[in-house]
Amino acid sequence: MDTEQQKETLLFVDDEENILDIASEYFTFKGFEVLTARNGREAVQVLESERVDCCFTDINMPEMDGLALAEHIHHTDNTIPVIVMTGYPSLDNTIATLKNGVVDFLIKPVNLEQMELAVRRVLRQRHLFVENILLQKEVEQKERLEKLNRELVYKVEELNLINRIMRDFAAIGSTTDVFKCVVDMTIEVAHADWAQFLVMNEHVETPFEVVSAGNGAVPGAEDVRLPDDLVAGVVRDELPLLVKDRQGVEGLPDNVRSALLVPMKIREKVFGVLTAAVCRGDLHFSEKDLYYLSYISRNAARSIENLALYENIYQNLFSTLYAFVNAIEARDPYTQQHSERVARLAILLGQEMNCSPEELDILHFSGHLHDIGKIGIRDDILLKCSGLTAEEYEKIKEHPQIGANIVGQLGLWDREKDIIRYHHEHFDGTGYPEGLKGEEIPFLSRLLAVADVFDAMASGRAYRKKIEESVVLETIRDRAGTHFDPRVVETLLRLHQEGKLPTAGDN
Ligand SMILES: [Fe+2]
Repeated sequence: MDTEQQKETLLFVDDEENILDIASEYFTFKGFEVLTARNGREAVQVLESERVDCCFTDINMPEMDGLALAEHIHHTDNTIPVIVMTGYPSLDNTIATLKNGVVDFLIKPVNLEQMELAVRRVLRQRHLFVENILLQKEVEQKERLEKLNRELVYKVEELNLINRIMRDFAAIGSTTDVFKCVVDMTIEVAHADWAQFLVMNEHVETPFEVVSAGNGAVPGAEDVRLPDDLVAGVVRDELPLLVKDRQGVEGLPDNVRSALLVPMKIREKVFGVLTAAVCRGDLHFSEKDLYYLSYISRNAARSIENLALYENIYQNLFSTLYAFVNAIEARDPYTQQHSERVARLAILLGQEMNCSPEELDILHFSGHLHDIGKIGIRDDILLKCSGLTAEEYEKIKEHPQIGANIVGQLGLWDREKDIIRYHHEHFDGTGYPEGLKGEEIPFLSRLLAVADVFDAMASGRAYRKKIEESVVLETIRDRAGTHFDPRVVETLLRLHQEGKLPTAGDN
């Protein structure tokens, strides 16, 4: 042994003092640390307080014999090798000691060289044994780390997915898009071959389909319908249903291997049911898929609720503003329903000029509210029968800006605000309030301007009579390129030729 610290410790247990003395002297001389005990009980005490690398024990001793000691060591620290020394070896003894993890036998009388050989052998074995245990622990730790790592990666993926679901639903602008998103996400997240969203209809017992989609790559996945009673059960119980295996479920289409049904609730009431199916081989949905779909369903429900709330507020505000317009128009018999007709004609022109649904919505809104700014103009100017003074005309010219301010303050209608502000701009830059020119003027404002003037001329004013439609159209044609965008004028004339123009002044 090179240093004190590396000395190996031997424990000798024997009730014969002289054996302990001889062994002690010999092995200390050989560089070992030596501990002694006169019976098993004393040895147990030594083992509790000292580190021992190998234990020699006699079998027959008072209080606690060698076999009991071997058993004790085997149970408390099975890395300590036990060598038994006995004067009377028997088969029974041998079997019992081997069972208790004894690694060697020495028959008394024992000579010291024999003992030393045995010690060196068992200690070598012990080193290997301990090393093996350490290696094994290292492998286990590595495996545990890898498992934790896998779990972590999985958790991060799950979190990302959940975040994405939340973000996607928060960004959706219409209920139809929510349904579409629900179905697409179900196919992606739960690896479904087919998914469908059914919305409750109060007049029919089973919900009806709104959106469905299938995986085109899977035969039959585009044509799946889960049994009505399965759907009805989910609606009735207000609980999701996971059909892991088709066994025992009646009425499932032949190609459905596994199915999932999740109710969508808004304010504790079932609003619809999200259904999904797997149609391939042995694949099936799991509890995890159920969890994801329930999460998707909850987020979709929240999104629909918010949209409904927003649409409601939007509709209420629009109605309030339009009531003001009606009030303004009601004071002047010539302008009654003017805004309504302007909106209708503007939408007609917009459809003809391939406007998007969103642009048509903007036209609907700004058509109805384009003159709301007149609320800020004094009645004696607004209702004047004869010609206006220059100063009065300047006042009138403020109405597009006042209107834009009223609508813009709410922050809901930024695009509409600009369409209203510029509805009196002229194509050649001679209009108001800013004198914008050509394409500087928003397209929908150019469109609204034609509809506005057409209706104003055709329906008469307090200070002049209604003008013949042919004259109105002629006047507008003449102003193409100066007052109006020529493309819009062209569209108006085409609508007239095709007989699609509403009769001017009609409600
Ligand atoms: Fe106007």
